[in-house]
Amino acid sequence: MLSFSFSNGDTLPALGLGTWKSSPGTVQAAVAEALAAGYRHIDCAPIYQNEPEVGRAVAEAIGTGTVARGDLWLTSKLWNNAHAPERVRPALEQTLADLRTDYLDLFLIHWPVAFAPGVLFARKKEEFIPLADLPIAETWKAMEACVAAGLVRHIGVCNFSVAKLEALCRRATIRPEMNQVELHPYLQQRATLDFCKQNNILVTAFSPLGSGDRPAAMKKADEPTLLDNPVILQVAARHGITPAQVLLAWALARQTVVIPKSVNPERLRQNLAAAEVRLDDRDMAAIAALDRGYRFVDGSFFTGPQSPYTVAAIWDE
Ligand code: A2P
Repeated sequence: MLSFSFSNGDTLPALGLGTWKSSPGTVQAAVAEALAAGYRHIDCAPIYQNEPEVGRAVAEAIGTGTVARGDLWLTSKLWNNAHAPERVRPALEQTLADLRTDYLDLFLIHWPVAFAPGVLFARKKEEFIPLADLPIAETWKAMEACVAAGLVRHIGVCNFSVAKLEALCRRATIRPEMNQVELHPYLQQRATLDFCKQNNILVTAFSPLGSGDRPAAMKKADEPTLLDNPVILQVAARHGITPAQVLLAWALARQTVVIPKSVNPERLRQNLAAAEVRLDDRDMAAIAALDRGYRFVDGSFFTGPQSPYTVAAIWDE
């Protein structure tokens, strides 16, 4: 399996299993199947509300000898309601208990958005906390303390613009080592990739297949689909592979980690096999032309008349 390296030499399997939208009823079997098929990287988050089921599959696979903990990469995230420094470690400890492990390989701030303690999804004014009142730099210090305590090996962020990464790098003792962002041919994120490369920050691509199983409330009526894009279909036909494999091979060719979600045994295996696919310059040029700066997950669900957040401020665009 292709892997990418951190500056301390730790290696991260480049293709992992996404678990957002995997229901608690299906995710345990999916993770078990994935580990049996050879996945060694699982991307999790408490807001996916399925970490206990992921943890059961992980514990079982370790117990039966399918995988050793040291050969498995586990990522999880800090939800928006736990940005207050004193809440970071308890939130991490809950995730560790749910995932049945005593450390995470990677712990990420999920969004540059803060909610009041205990609020799962903020709607009312008093349920939001503006970043000016709870700066990311304060949350980050508590993330750094989790590294010092031996509870996590690496720390990073998700959904951070270049401006927010720059600000964080200036204040950080441990600089962020990962930025997990939406990334696919309709949102190629070239400036973010360049900045991250220059600053030794790895990038993970989420929603690489266009995240077609998002809740209807998160979808726009006229949104484009990736899996039936004619260029993607042409490249797939040329190589005798599936459109999903084209999208995943493209992400890996750009040196980004990629975390497709599936709960289907056949598609899980198909996605993992994409790590063996090599696209050529002609394919890469054709796909490069598909960029349209389109976000499937645009953060608008954190905005509205009662919120201090706006889409423009989240992305600094
Ligand atoms: P399923 O879980 O039933 O396989 P993303 O990773 O961008 O969030 O996309 C996840 C969506 O893509 C899910 O609906 C998932 O369905 C579907 N999916 C995963 N792998 C494939 C594949 N190889 N071909 C087509 N659809 C896929």
